[in-house]
Amino acid sequence: MQKEEGKNIVKMTVSGDNSETIATSPTEMIFEPILEHGVFRFDCSVEHRKAAFPSVSFKNIKDREVPVISHSVPAYTPTCVCLEEKQVVTFEFSPGTSFYGTGEVGGELERTRKRVFTWNTDAWGYGPGTTPLYQSHPWVLVVLPTGETLGVLADTTQKCEVYMNRGIIRITAPTAYPIITFGPFSSPTAVLESLSHAIGKNCFMPPKWALGYHQCRFSYMSEKRVAEIAQTFRDKKIPADVIWMDIDYMDGFRCFTFDKERFPDPSALAKYLHNNGFKAVWMLDPGIKKEEGYSAYDSGSKDDVWVKQADGKPFIGEVWPGPCVFPDYTNSKTRSWWASLVKNFISNGVDGIWNDMNEPAVFNTVTKTMPENNIHCGDDELGGVQNHSHYHNVYGTLMARSTYEGIELADKNKRPFVLTRAGFIGSQRYAATWTGDNLSTWEHLHMSISMVLQLGLSGQPLSGPDIGGFGGNATPRLFGRWMGVGAMFPFCRGHSEVATDDHEPWSFGEECEEVCRAALKRRYQLLPHFYTLFYISHTTGAPVAAPIFFADPKDSRLRTVENAFLLGPLLVYASTLNNQGSHELHHILPNGTWLRFDFEDSHPDLPTLYLRGGSIIAVAPPHLHVGEFTLSDDLTLLVSLDENGKAEGLLFEDDGDGYGYTEGRFLITNYIAEKHSSIVTVKVSKTEGGWQRPKRRVHVRLLLGGGAMLDAWGWMERLSRLLCLQKVKFQN
Ligand code: GLC
Repeated sequence: MQKEEGKNIVKMTVSGDNSETIATSPTEMIFEPILEHGVFRFDCSVEHRKAAFPSVSFKNIKDREVPVISHSVPAYTPTCVCLEEKQVVTFEFSPGTSFYGTGEVGGELERTRKRVFTWNTDAWGYGPGTTPLYQSHPWVLVVLPTGETLGVLADTTQKCEVYMNRGIIRITAPTAYPIITFGPFSSPTAVLESLSHAIGKNCFMPPKWALGYHQCRFSYMSEKRVAEIAQTFRDKKIPADVIWMDIDYMDGFRCFTFDKERFPDPSALAKYLHNNGFKAVWMLDPGIKKEEGYSAYDSGSKDDVWVKQADGKPFIGEVWPGPCVFPDYTNSKTRSWWASLVKNFISNGVDGIWNDMNEPAVFNTVTKTMPENNIHCGDDELGGVQNHSHYHNVYGTLMARSTYEGIELADKNKRPFVLTRAGFIGSQRYAATWTGDNLSTWEHLHMSISMVLQLGLSGQPLSGPDIGGFGGNATPRLFGRWMGVGAMFPFCRGHSEVATDDHEPWSFGEECEEVCRAALKRRYQLLPHFYTLFYISHTTGAPVAAPIFFADPKDSRLRTVENAFLLGPLLVYASTLNNQGSHELHHILPNGTWLRFDFEDSHPDLPTLYLRGGSIIAVAPPHLHVGEFTLSDDLTLLVSLDENGKAEGLLFEDDGDGYGYTEGRFLITNYIAEKHSSIVTVKVSKTEGGWQRPKRRVHVRLLLGGGAMLDAWGWMERLSRLLCLQKVKFQN
């Protein structure tokens, strides 16, 4: 950038286009405190503030608009340059600063030198450099050299470029949009907690079954095949909870219909699955076949719910069923219409819904989506009537919202489960997500870890990749390895594309089957811990899976580690190299005590597990599905003492579904362990919730490192909620 003598004008190159543009010089943005301590809203000027569109990312739109009283001033003030139609915002940080966030983007975990575009795009077979992908998170998590962390949100739904390079973030999007900063706070977790106060608590509380293993394929072609798959899981004693129905269950890809020959009786199928401990998730796409006589098309046309072309006629684009119209989810009338169709659809025994192709993907256009000058009749609070370029990035989120509301209408006592492909910052309020159409390659296995972590650092805790890879065929080694690490991801689903070989856990020979069984048994044993992490995420906004630098944000060695992650105090180290198991890798660990352990299942294709010194996690027996867990199950506590001989941990328990937990029907137990000479005493230090403590045996396993442990059994008394476990003696 060069300044011309005597004039308040600079010549600058606007990233994204290489033309030189004359602009006014960068000025500091105006700010006001919003939401809570340490959160600021910045605008280019008072006029820009007035011109900004309403927030779609904030849960309560007013939180962005109404200032709060605070005497603090921002530690970092961005500058802005307003070009004709663009607003360029720049932040500068000191050397040694690391960038994360920006949601679902491939490539390296640390984002320096990365240019990310937000424009939800169907991106089959994307690579590490492909941007944009299916989701938009104009959000950067800035980890300063001290470990203190700042969050930067460009609160715009429009196409946005986020460029991160040595110490600089430059954001370019159409005028006028506010920037919101969170912090700097003492840790990245504190920033994510603050973000969740703006965009909604990190997650709807998932029903417990959604944390089990999900088996999917494009497509299981008949009821018979679905039943066969379910039965094989049970026969082979491989844990699983959910079978997914991809588009071929529909009659000619018409949403809300069932193929009469292949899926003649969905309720009977659901009953069969339920009786065998499975749930069923079914796909619904936004493209509605344009065909008179098809009830969804007829009722939508009657209610005038379709997105319009610039000339006011419904837009028609090709997707799976051929020519389709697209519901305008920006409008509350349309969302209610969709929700009522969803409500009826649920009565077929549907347990969850998968919203796909909702960027929205359109086959017969160069842009792979609808024209930007299409018209949406948006609600006033979302931004009113606008063209598609304004609403494109939130179309998928609003579809997921409407689907979520439809499931709620069907049964108020169940927690809705929706999976969405397209998303925007804040979409975790309505849906889980996955990382789209990846490939069966080692590079994609590696990338899947960073992608899941980055989604977590961008407000979305419930995500996972298609385990094994969607496009192409996995090898047994790749599949086993992917299942090993996939079983440790927050959302755990195997899926593969039409015309690929079978990709079920038993499809790759006996050794791979054994690896998959062991991987999923680990997951099911760890379910009490996963469920507790989701409860913490749901109530505080902390991510479920986090990069290992979260354990010590100022340790720069940890900031680029891409094949390891934290699940609370549990550290997972995976190998994503074909020819080396994780035990053969050099493990960079955060400082402090980290004790290695396994479930007596060590195998080169399974990740290595460590538990942080000072922590206790709860483990269950390896059941085959969530419905098998009972409150009288033995409870195992894995204890990793710190250098002072102490440890503590938390367990959340409730019904696993419904909302009883909001009315006190839950039990939170804080366990503590303390070593005095050769005796380790484990006891309950605190409980919360209205549930009685169940009578059950407690198995304490004291980790000694290197996979060794000592164990002892105790007995949990129903009566006492304060001190329930007797002393456990260990001879060491
Ligand atoms: C899209 C989805 C994929 C699904 C397929 C057919 O490619 O990303 O998961 O299987 O459509 O519905």
